[in-house]
Amino acid sequence: MFYRGRRLRTSANMRLLVEETKLHKEELIYPIFVVEGKGIKSEISSLKNCYHYSVDMLYDVVNEMKRVGIISCILFGIPNEKDACGSEAYNDNGIVQQAVRELKGLYPELLIIGDVCMCEYTDHGHCGILDANGVVQNDVTLEYLAKIAVSYAKAGIDMVAPSDMMDGRVLAIRQALDDAGYYNLPIMSYSAKFASSYYGPFRAAANSAPSFGDRKSYQMDWHNGKEALREVAADINEGADILMVKPAMAYLDVIKEVSLNFNCPICAYQVSGEYAMLKMAVEQGIMNEGVIMESLVAIKRAGANMIITYFALEIAERL
Ligand code: PBG
Ligand code: ZN
Repeated sequence: MFYRGRRLRTSANMRLLVEETKLHKEELIYPIFVVEGKGIKSEISSLKNCYHYSVDMLYDVVNEMKRVGIISCILFGIPNEKDACGSEAYNDNGIVQQAVRELKGLYPELLIIGDVCMCEYTDHGHCGILDANGVVQNDVTLEYLAKIAVSYAKAGIDMVAPSDMMDGRVLAIRQALDDAGYYNLPIMSYSAKFASSYYGPFRAAANSAPSFGDRKSYQMDWHNGKEALREVAADINEGADILMVKPAMAYLDVIKEVSLNFNCPICAYQVSGEYAMLKMAVEQGIMNEGVIMESLVAIKRAGANMIITYFALEIAERL
């Protein structure tokens, strides 16, 4: 027989030799939830083995990241006070801003990404400013997003990641950062972010579910793949440095298309619902834990260069 696929599968080393996709721990970004208060490290009920940390307890997760070799994280802040315009988000002494300063002190080389959005900070839970009819106003919201990004920059963040899905936010943030002198601060844009049910556990963890309606007027319709390419193209034109596709597993086709059509670094977000499903299945013995690595390698194989994942710590330990 001329072709025998099994010839290259005869031993572990032979398989390693021809392995096409390698996952490195430097490509994993760990999401961290920061809460106000003191002495808090409490497990998030919707995200097993992930915790809410108060600023003074961040040393705990820093020690873990250092131990397993995780070099980057993305921060989500959960403020005590919320209002109509999410003013805690751009408070220079807000929860994310404090966390950045603390983390930089504990682990100076750590790459810290800040999720820029308003839903954790607004009392109505939407990702922008509402008009009298409860509609999210695009262009007004841009000014707030820009203020948040600049405030994060002042605190020492290494990259901002707008996740709101307003039109024109990358340009608005780019201009505001440049005007404030942060022309070297990159933007990782949540370019193709779908209105997904997979965000459920995150919204429980961040207390950020919309109090009425849904996010379908700003996040993408998951029936659409080509539209994702338009969103990505727009973000590149506005100055995005890294593109994101979110969620990951149900959107591998989108990751692939983006990677074939554009030559920018691509980040995929393996979101809370993906984590919760896999975690639960492994815990209940329905699948073995190999399914976790398999899911991450699939995301890389599709074309992602980096992955935001709640599995970052446990997977890095194994790599
Ligand atoms: C904020 C934001 C969300 C996620 C990341 N940033 C929630 C949402 O859009 O409702 C979801 C992340 C996850 O599910 O892990 N807009
Ligand atoms: Zn949001």
